[in-house]
Amino acid sequence: MMGHTHSHDSNLKLNYLDAISEGVPHTHTRACHLLYRLVSKFNKPEVVEVACCFGKATLYLAAAAKCQGGSVSSVDIAEYLWEGRSATDLLRQADLLDICRITFGRDARWYLLDLFRQRRGQWIDLAYLDLSHTVEVDSFVALALWTHMQPGGILVFDDLDWVPAENGLVNKDLSEPTISHVQVIFDYISGLHDVAERDAWGQEEVAWRWGFLRKRHISGADAVPLRDLLRGLE
Ligand SMILES: C[S@@+](CC[C@H](N)C(=O)[O-])C[C@H]1O[C@@H](n2cnc3c(N)ncnc32)[C@H](O)[C@@H]1O
Repeated sequence: MMGHTHSHDSNLKLNYLDAISEGVPHTHTRACHLLYRLVSKFNKPEVVEVACCFGKATLYLAAAAKCQGGSVSSVDIAEYLWEGRSATDLLRQADLLDICRITFGRDARWYLLDLFRQRRGQWIDLAYLDLSHTVEVDSFVALALWTHMQPGGILVFDDLDWVPAENGLVNKDLSEPTISHVQVIFDYISGLHDVAERDAWGQEEVAWRWGFLRKRHISGADAVPLRDLLRGLE
């Protein structure tokens, strides 16, 4: 009974968020729903998003974090408007500005260096990486986020399938035109000693893949397997 009520409430909430963000790029709405469900699994979740752009995913991350008594920190190198509305406007409309702090106009590497010098240790429950499409920025940011994930925390990568020659401009100095650097970074971090689980989602659902890494629990706790969380089987 409680489960039924809970899922009814979260469907209502998702409908409300979908209405606020209707037509706003970039993260696919189904991926936003998944992010919402994942954040909802944590108690007082500490969420970090890099980067927010128009605030589509930010809205869902912040709504789930607020329900669970948590907070969101996000950044973008610029503040963008989609049909006259910024990320801040979306959050204001959903009454989420109190628990979500966005820093605009800062490079993600400097932003994280500031954040992690202030807050050392492992404190992030979920981080969403949807960034620059350049290896030099994404590699530092991914590793810095991973370093500060809590045991049991989940690091989410958008753009496993992003290949410069097919999906965007090639930076001639630094890119490998036919290689997805996000996939390579994901594979690299997957092999570190403190990774408990690795999975991908989205190929069948929206023909674009997101990568998920969960940090090992110190206790080896009995968490729901990541693959069940991703497929709503928990
Ligand atoms: C694909 S968008 C993010 C979309 C967002 N997650 C959503 O759900 O709509 C990528 C963003 O990364 C930002 N970005 C690129 N390089 C950056 C950097 N070095 N530091 C901070 N933000 C950066 C861009 O300005 C852009 O808004």
